[in-house]
Amino acid sequence: MSIDTTTPTDPTELRVPKEVADLVFRAARTVNTFADGEVTDEQIRAVWDVVRWGPTAMNSLPLRLLLVRSPEARERLVAHMADGNKAKTLRAPLSIVVAADLDFHEQLPRLAPHMSGARENFAAAEPVRERMSRDNAFLQAGYLIVGLRAAGLHVGPMTGFDAPGLDADLFAGTPWRSIMVANVGTAPAEHEGLGMPASHPRQGRLDFEDVARTI
Ligand SMILES: Cc1cc2nc3c(=O)[nH]c(=O)nc-3n(C[C@H](O)[C@H](O)[C@H](O)COP(=O)(O)O)c2cc1C
Repeated sequence: MSIDTTTPTDPTELRVPKEVADLVFRAARTVNTFADGEVTDEQIRAVWDVVRWGPTAMNSLPLRLLLVRSPEARERLVAHMADGNKAKTLRAPLSIVVAADLDFHEQLPRLAPHMSGARENFAAAEPVRERMSRDNAFLQAGYLIVGLRAAGLHVGPMTGFDAPGLDADLFAGTPWRSIMVANVGTAPAEHEGLGMPASHPRQGRLDFEDVARTI
């Protein structure tokens, strides 16, 4: 399918089919329990191939992903999760520790070659790097959630975990800093398992008038 972006249409209409918007936003739910079945590295690689094109400041791309699969690694991860997030993380087909790379500036000669001296300037400014890596990694984390949904996967993002403890354990000696853990899989056809529903009851959203001002 190709999307014609040149022919004028109703400007309030989406340029993608309604089903796409439903899949990634309107009908998509945050999921706590998953059906059996693997989520492969190839699937996540294909998602990254799309979401990496989402914009970041200075094309810095500070997002990093730790795919947690082995039972040993999963136990290590779960130890840092908040109590309410432990069981679902233990049983998810795949958990991804989403991280921000404090040393993202090392990639700037490749990612932003037009900005001469950027790597050297950032090297001397760790507080700026901390802020910028976190802000932009969260932006990319949003793209990641949408990309996973677009690939037909369900996601349970979580910030309820001991980030300093996780970093000291799984990212020791590296410049990666965890910002979110995402459980990934396919929601069960019937919402059962773990004694909790796959999703909580849907909550409302703010209206345009609540969030936007025009000046
Ligand atoms: C950044 C982020 C952090 C979250 N942290 C947690 C968490 O620690 N535990 C949890 O159960 N849900 C967590 N959630 C899930 C949200 O509560 C959920 O996405 C939101 O209520 C919308 O639910 P819905 O997608 O089913 O409408 C988190 C979601 C996001 C995006």
